[in-house]
Amino acid sequence: MKQTNETDFPNNFLWGAASAAYQIEGASQEDGKGASIWDTFTKIPGKTKNHTDGTVAVDHYHRFSEDIQLMAKMKLKAYRFSIAWSRIIPDGDGEINQAGLDFYGKLIDELLEQKIEPIVTLYHWDLPQALQDKYNGWESRQVIAAFKKYARTVFEAFGDRVTYWVTFNEQNVFTAMGYRWASHPPNISNIKRMYQANHIVNLANAEVITLFHELVPNGLIGPSFGYGEVVPETCHPKDVLAAMDANLLNNEWWLQVYCRGSYPKRIVDVLTQLGVMFDLTDDDQQILENPAAHPDYLGLNYYHGGTVRRPNQKRAQIDKNFETTDPYLMAADNQKETPESLLFQSVTNPYLEKTEWGWEIDPVGLQVALRRVYDKYQLPIFITENGLGALDHVTETGEIDDSYRIHFFINHLREVAAAIQTGVPVIGYCAWSFTDLLSWLNGYEKRYGFVYIDRTDTDKKNLKRLPKKSFYWYKKLIETNGELLQEGSE
Ligand code: BG6
Repeated sequence: MKQTNETDFPNNFLWGAASAAYQIEGASQEDGKGASIWDTFTKIPGKTKNHTDGTVAVDHYHRFSEDIQLMAKMKLKAYRFSIAWSRIIPDGDGEINQAGLDFYGKLIDELLEQKIEPIVTLYHWDLPQALQDKYNGWESRQVIAAFKKYARTVFEAFGDRVTYWVTFNEQNVFTAMGYRWASHPPNISNIKRMYQANHIVNLANAEVITLFHELVPNGLIGPSFGYGEVVPETCHPKDVLAAMDANLLNNEWWLQVYCRGSYPKRIVDVLTQLGVMFDLTDDDQQILENPAAHPDYLGLNYYHGGTVRRPNQKRAQIDKNFETTDPYLMAADNQKETPESLLFQSVTNPYLEKTEWGWEIDPVGLQVALRRVYDKYQLPIFITENGLGALDHVTETGEIDDSYRIHFFINHLREVAAAIQTGVPVIGYCAWSFTDLLSWLNGYEKRYGFVYIDRTDTDKKNLKRLPKKSFYWYKKLIETNGELLQEGSE
């Protein structure tokens, strides 16, 4: 039996919240900032909901001190944010913009004053537009040198004060959405180009981790991967195999490269069969296999997993009720000869509820993810994102009762506690997100924050900050180091 006040979370557990530059900062053309590919992409009619963009976002650039005061009030222990590369080097690989460095320097210092650990993401999807124009973005090896220059600049500026660093946020998502489904910049729909770009990102990741180990020997670095365990629909042995392949394609394809420097052979064979395999040289292999290029911990972003059955059955005939609003799944469903169509078919999991946006809610899947990833790679894990997008409502008296979000966090965090009990070393948990922010494709009404921001898709209003009910709940959770999660404490 546990003693009173004893919880599963270590005393130094980093209870945090997260954000990303483009989704919160605004000030998209201020103080020398260059344009990013998201500044450009959001101008294409029909690409984002109600034509929303991050020009003003939630104006964190001007209100960061007020936001940090709220974090301090909440007793937050860690705050994950990303640096906008085009604030630091406006054209991607040229002059350094001191004003950009100053902004993040002040942000980091104010966090440290409040005893909040900064967790810095180098790349949360906003490539400088100039690099897209000059070199064709991540399709060119020239961007690797540019990324190293940018990384060196911020490691030298902040490596003395920042311990935890994230290289790439959800490489699996931004390469697929950007190069395969044309629903993110650079708006390309070509699977071969996606795998080529993805390989170049892998090289950039490996080279920057190697550089970090030279420059910031006391720091810790890793990618934040969007992990979702894929399970078989039935115990039919071929469904089990399909799930195994789906995990290779959707998860190990990235994790194995990060941690061991090799690509799963089974998927290389499938890509070769489809004629979409990329160029992989001996030099590339050396860069990826170098132990100094491997992460110190794994960042894990968790929203949902997937369910599959064996391929070669027409989904429409056997799953008439299959419905999804997730562009990734819809696109996958419509493809013909693809890695997916050769290996598995995605189906709905009948045991899971969904969010208002059709994302499955699977707290146990988080425990599965933590245990699976740790079993396989034996690295500490930092949960760098997990949260619920919902439509929140403000009462006439200015209150926001988001009990559904509290419920979501309780259920997920109980699974984190269970994973810790089995021996998984979890460094911390960053809820997505601290304030409400821009949802890339879904605008400002799909809210994730502990703090409500008074704005809509079409009306920027006053951008006033209003703590929600979940804000006070998370504060109490932090103060009790998770004790609140124990049965009966809700
Ligand atoms: C993650 C991203 O994929 O999901 C975040 O890292 C994003 O940047 C979050 O906001 C939620 O996605 P969405 O589409 O609901 O904004």
